[in-house]
Amino acid sequence: MLDAVLARANTWMLEHIDPKWIDYVASNTMTDLNRRLNGFIWTYELQAQVVAVRDEAPGVKTFVMRPNQLWQGFEPGQHVELVLPIRDVQGLPVKRFYSVSPQPQGRFSITVKQTRQGRASRWLHERLQVGQRLPISQAQGRFCRRTDQARLLYLCAGSGITPCHSMVSAALAGPAAQRPDMQVIAQFREADDLIFKDDLAAWKQAGVKVDTLFSSGSPQGLPASRLDAEQLRRLCPDLARREVYLCGPEGFMHGMIQALQSLGVDPLRIHTERFTVSHLTPSTGFSVAGTEVRFKHIDACFTMTAADEGKTLLQAALDHGVNLERGCTQGMCGTCKLSVHDGEISGNVLGRAVYMCTSYPASRQIVLGP
Ligand SMILES: Cc1cc2nc3c(=O)[nH]c(=O)nc-3n(C[C@H](O)[C@H](O)[C@H](O)COP(=O)(O)OP(=O)(O)OC[C@H]3O[C@@H](n4cnc5c(N)ncnc54)[C@H](O)[C@@H]3O)c2cc1C
Ligand code: FES
Repeated sequence: MLDAVLARANTWMLEHIDPKWIDYVASNTMTDLNRRLNGFIWTYELQAQVVAVRDEAPGVKTFVMRPNQLWQGFEPGQHVELVLPIRDVQGLPVKRFYSVSPQPQGRFSITVKQTRQGRASRWLHERLQVGQRLPISQAQGRFCRRTDQARLLYLCAGSGITPCHSMVSAALAGPAAQRPDMQVIAQFREADDLIFKDDLAAWKQAGVKVDTLFSSGSPQGLPASRLDAEQLRRLCPDLARREVYLCGPEGFMHGMIQALQSLGVDPLRIHTERFTVSHLTPSTGFSVAGTEVRFKHIDACFTMTAADEGKTLLQAALDHGVNLERGCTQGMCGTCKLSVHDGEISGNVLGRAVYMCTSYPASRQIVLGP
């Protein structure tokens, strides 16, 4: 009862008073008593409190969350890391990333698909309720539309629609004059798996071209339809002029990158976000000594030596004094992601996207950039 009242009071306060003032007052009155009374406001820890939970589709839930005053906001397409009150096999708190979508009044939402035997998604679905609080990270990731990109194709499958949902929702909520030309192609297994059904309908109303495909058959009884190059060309005739934002299961993404490239889409126009990670080993037989690595965007360069053997590109760059942005260092969060402009790279690579923290050089000259 007290918790529910406190949760409502916190939400009201954070939505009516400038968070900077709340932070100022809280940090100047940080006593043990205040911390015990209200650890959501009297804290140095970024947390989010659940304000609503809704079923999006079978096995998919959306959690609307109110972050505390320490939240610095997010770019549509970014994600946060949630820290759950359960432990992994090593006894450490379970942490997972989820894409954030904009919500009114400074809130955000995450949409979680329950994976089979998934520890975190199962806990979120079965345990997380309105009023509960979780520690979160600040928003991170580079899967965000640049404002100078005027024509976009969002190509997604399953829960991979979540970061695209964030970008499309934010663009539609902004001024019409600044709205890009957006097209969405979303693939699901069957009609019941459709996520954001109402939003997809609203986007169509707002003039976005939206196509949904069902790989196990469509609601109208039409035959199953799995996206391939031919269908992509038919659904999006001006494909080569669009920036493509791609997110979905690993197999879907690899298939789509091949299809896009076979249709002449510039690899540097294909922007990817992956939810799982694979292939993390360096290519055998390549000796790194003498490899020159150049970073176009920061005008930096270094040459690898024998001492860099076995190091990831991120580690080697850091050891040579090139300070690169990074987060999880496990190939998940995408903070270190760059595009390869020239050369060969092995390890955690998807199309032209290189996850620097889990990738290795495979040619003598490498040029990287945004
Ligand atoms: C940048 C980023 C953003 C993400 N955004 C979202 C999001 O918006 N919504 C969302 O639902 N998930 C998202 N994810 C995936 C999420 O972080 C978890 O990996 C997912 O919820 C599964 O965690 P789990 O603990 O339930 O499963 P685990 O206990 O980690 O895994 C259980 C089983 O499921 C498999 N598995 C794990 N993850 C996935 C997956 N993503 N798809 C299919 N099988 C999987 C594992 O191989 C394992 O066999 C994102 C991941 C990243 C890296
Ligand atoms: S993917 Fe997180 S730092 Fe590389």
